[in-house]
Amino acid sequence: TKRVFSGIQPTGVPQLGNYLGTIKNWVSLQQEKDTELFYSIVDLHALTVPRDPKQLRRETTEMAAALIACGIDPKRSVLFRQSAVAAHSQLHWVLGSITPVGWLNRMTQWKSKLHQQNAESEDAGSDEELQLNVHSSAAQGLLTGLFTYPVLMAADILLYRATHVPVGEDQVQHLELARDLAVHFNKTFKTKRFSPPTGMLTATKRVMSLKDPLRKMSKSDPNEQSRITLSDTDDQIVKKIKKAPTDAITGISFDPKARPGVSNLLSIYAAMKDVDAQVAAVEMREMSNAQMKEMVAQAVVEGVAPIRQRMRELMDDPAYLDNVLRDNEDRARETAEKSWQEIAQRVGLVCR
Ligand code: TYM
Repeated sequence: TKRVFSGIQPTGVPQLGNYLGTIKNWVSLQQEKDTELFYSIVDLHALTVPRDPKQLRRETTEMAAALIACGIDPKRSVLFRQSAVAAHSQLHWVLGSITPVGWLNRMTQWKSKLHQQNAESEDAGSDEELQLNVHSSAAQGLLTGLFTYPVLMAADILLYRATHVPVGEDQVQHLELARDLAVHFNKTFKTKRFSPPTGMLTATKRVMSLKDPLRKMSKSDPNEQSRITLSDTDDQIVKKIKKAPTDAITGISFDPKARPGVSNLLSIYAAMKDVDAQVAAVEMREMSNAQMKEMVAQAVVEGVAPIRQRMRELMDDPAYLDNVLRDNEDRARETAEKSWQEIAQRVGLVCR
C-alpha cells in the first residue's frame, strides 16, 4: 500500500502557489484506494522565523480551516499539527546526528538566505565568489533551525515511512536529502528500516509571481499584489490578474520561456479548470491578453470563492477544528510512536 506524507507551514492563509502546487493534489489523492494519507501543519518548521506565539497558534488553526475548506476530509486523511507528535523532534535529533554539515550547506534555500543576509551586511558586494557557508560571517546572524530545517522535514517523512510525498518544486531538493538520509540511516545502523520516498509534482509545480513571472509566488514576498491568497475577495482576484505583466506578442500561446507572464496565467487557468495548458492556449489563441485574463480571473474566482466561504464558516467554529485536530493527532501519534520505538531500539536509545 501507498503511504503519502506532506506538510505545510502555518504562515497565514495559503496562496495560490500552495494550493495549485500541492494542496489540490493532496485533495485528489484522497480518491486513491489503499492509500494512507498524512498531512501535517508543520508548526515546528514555522518557528525558524521568529513570531508572536499567539499569532503562530492562530495561523495554525487558520491553516487547518483552509485545508479542510480546500477539501481535505479529516476522516479520510490524518490532518494534524506537527508539534502534537513528539517523535518528529526525536527523530530529527537522531537524523541530525548522522547528517554531514556539507549536505545542508548545499541546500539552495539555505544558500539564498545566506546571500540575502550577506547582501544586508556592511561589506556586501565586494567579492562575487565569496565563500558562503555555515562558517562564513553572513551565517553567524542566521538561526540554527533554519540550517537544520531539511533534517526535520526528512524526519517528518521517514517517521511515517512515506512512499510518496506531494510537494512543489521548491521542496524537491529537501526531499532529495530525505532520500539520502533514508539510505544513510540504513547503512549506519545496518537496517532496511527506510526506503527512499518518491516525490509527486503537479503541472503547476512552480506558480510564478503576478508581479514578476520570473520569481515564484510566495507568502513572504512583501508585495501583496504578487500573490492571490485563498481569502482574497472576487474583486481583489480580478484586479491582481488584470495587472499581471504579459507581453506585446499578438494572440495567446503557451511558451513559458518566451512568454513567462502569459504562460503563468495559462497554467493557473488550466490547473483551476483541470485542463491542459497547451490545449487551453490553443482554444484562446485568437484572444487579446485582456480577454485571456478575464477567463483566468473567472476560473480563479469560481475556484476560490467557495473555499473562502467555507474557510470563514470553519473559523467561526474553533471548537470543531480543535476536536478534529485532536482526534487526528491521536491517530498520527499511534503510527509515529510505534515507528519511533523501533528506531530507538535500533539506534540504542531507550524504548519501551
Ligand atoms: P511551504 O509551507 O513553504 O509550502 C507548502 C507547499 O506549497 C508548495 N509551494 C508552491 N508550489 C508551487 N508554486 C509555488 N509558488 C509554491 N509555493 C509553495 C511547496 O513546495 C510545498 O509543497 N518544508 C515545507 C513543509 C514541510 C514538508 C514536510 C513538505 C515540512 N515537512 C514533509 C513535505 C514533506 C515547506 O516549508 O513548505
